[in-house]
Amino acid sequence: MNIGRGDMTALINGKEIAQNLRNNLKLEIDNLRSSTGKAPGLAVVQVGNVAASSVYVKAKTKSAKEVGIEVIDHHIGEETTEKELLELVNKLNNQENVNGILVQLPLPKHINEQIILDSIHPDKDADGFHPLNVGRLSIASNNDENLLIPCTPYGCLLMLKGLEVSLSGMNAVVVGRSNIVGKPMAQLLLKESCTVTIAHSKTINLEDVCRNADIVVAAVGRPEMIKGDWIKKGAIVIDVGINRIEIEKDGEKKNKLVGDVNFAQAEKNASAITPVPGGVGPMTIACLLRNTTIAFKNSLK
Ligand code: GUN
Repeated sequence: MNIGRGDMTALINGKEIAQNLRNNLKLEIDNLRSSTGKAPGLAVVQVGNVAASSVYVKAKTKSAKEVGIEVIDHHIGEETTEKELLELVNKLNNQENVNGILVQLPLPKHINEQIILDSIHPDKDADGFHPLNVGRLSIASNNDENLLIPCTPYGCLLMLKGLEVSLSGMNAVVVGRSNIVGKPMAQLLLKESCTVTIAHSKTINLEDVCRNADIVVAAVGRPEMIKGDWIKKGAIVIDVGINRIEIEKDGEKKNKLVGDVNFAQAEKNASAITPVPGGVGPMTIACLLRNTTIAFKNSLK
């Protein structure tokens, strides 16, 4: 996809880019299965029944199976203790057919998430959340093929790269400073030689910070918070938000998924923008499958 030619706004089709990535992974996994007699294994751990987590886990499991990854499913009760979860992770760390471990977040309040993430073996860290992998990402000067990189930001980066414009020197503003998205996104953009600003809820004059951006990555989790006139003419907008809101249509209340950006307004100024749904979401899952395949290949060395 090319942007910057004429006034048309390009819609970044995450669904299609993710499909291509999954097709390539499937071919690679088929070849690996032929040559080694083994396939990548992904352990998916869900604790409790948070509705959004169930949706994500189901989608991740389905996609993993479709590309030929073996899924080892552990759906355990809300009352599971931190010690019991640590024991499960430890078992999976030592299980030969498990190459990647995903513990779906959020965890119940009585479990310390960081303790659990720290306990996953760094080589099996399908999410790229372990401190060693966080450190590796911050140190690596380019995107080493063996790195386990957090899935959502890496998916965003692949979409930006697909635009075939030079990102070098661009002003990139990441709105949101989470460990899952904001911070690793900033690292990835820095590696592309962008000038990176991490903005957040305490940022003074967020509108003007955004107006200065050539790239806006919105990851705040607040429906349509970023308005169209915060977007500079020709900027690229990546919307990580997935927010369920209630709208009234034909006298009936309905649920609708919206991003962190007001799409209808921002589309008028952006040169390229991701839709919600069909933008970042499918890329996150495809990148999880990529990480699992990388972990499998690393285990063969
Ligand atoms: N919860 C929300 N996003 C994610 C993710 O990328 N990985 C995990 N494990 N949990 C999440």
